[in-house]
Amino acid sequence: MKRVFSGVQPTGNIHLGNYLGALKQFVELQQDHECIYCIVDEHAITVPQDPKELRKHILDVAALYLAIGIDPKKSIIFVQSQVSGHAELGWVLCCNSYTGELSRMTQFKAKSGGQESVGTGLLTYPVLMAADILLYDTDVVPVGNDQKQHIELARDIAIRVNNKYGKTFVVPDGRFMKAGARIMALDDPEQKMSKSAENVHSRISLLDEDSKIKKSIMRATTDCDGEFRFDPVNKPGVSNLLNIYSALSGKTVEEILAEQNWRGYGDLKKELVAVTQEALAPIKQNYNEIRESDELKNILRDGAERANAIAQPVMKRVRDKFGLGLG
Ligand code: AMP
Ligand code: TRP
Repeated sequence: MKRVFSGVQPTGNIHLGNYLGALKQFVELQQDHECIYCIVDEHAITVPQDPKELRKHILDVAALYLAIGIDPKKSIIFVQSQVSGHAELGWVLCCNSYTGELSRMTQFKAKSGGQESVGTGLLTYPVLMAADILLYDTDVVPVGNDQKQHIELARDIAIRVNNKYGKTFVVPDGRFMKAGARIMALDDPEQKMSKSAENVHSRISLLDEDSKIKKSIMRATTDCDGEFRFDPVNKPGVSNLLNIYSALSGKTVEEILAEQNWRGYGDLKKELVAVTQEALAPIKQNYNEIRESDELKNILRDGAERANAIAQPVMKRVRDKFGLGLG
């Protein structure tokens, strides 16, 4: 069985982009893969976090993992900081990466742009991500499109170490959804949907009330030519709505367009509101039951133990290859 690893930052507001780009794949892959899903709290602190909020968000993401259908009996769910190999391997890989390649990363440029003083963690963020992946001899990494460059870097580092020290790491592949890999902000379809945008109507959070879902979709930015066409360059707003519709319904955009008898964008939006509300209803119901359960922390503790059991032999292999410690 191939091994899958992915992670989500516990930074609140898990949204439709996270779900359709990444989380939906997590659930599908469990059927025929050995899956490890992490809550990457060490990545979260690359930007300032309120400690109390961070702890809360860790459990929020864990509950969401379970609510969307990740089964802790099949898959491992755990918190990154509970397995020390991530930080340890992260350091080793830092010593095998270059500031040049890290400062060229799109996400680094976006997050550090305009700041006078830039935290080192923002620069080395993708190296820690490479460590997450390589620590488990991962074959497949399901993520959204925005992580493509980081996956490439993880591959480059793995190949570099293998060439220098002999076969140490499995070289992983990214896995991206056809529809859903890049969901754009509803209010500004030139930007990706993000957890941190100020306007709450730019995104749909997985736990949004039906009335909020309706409001956000009905005010989504479109255009004024009135045509129903999938054309992300010239019609980014309408194309984004069609893409969300496709990802949620499992129909292709062509099928949706062939079936429709909309009179205007309002009709498309109304239909999308219904599809979205229906898709999120069971997630919300599951979430509320799970979030309050005492079992949640036990599941995460058990997950960390199982993750650690896989990580330890890989760390030993790394120490042996590099000549660290006493052997
Ligand atoms: P993050 O919230 O940055 O931890 O992202 C968690 C996962 O969601 C990653 O696999 C991202 O690639 C994915 N993701 C984040 N934003 C989007 C988006 N707007 N569209 C599709 N996937 C996304
Ligand atoms: N960088 C990813 C994001 O922001 C989160 C992440 C951290 C991750 N480590 C990972 C994703 C390992 C996949 C594999 O979305």
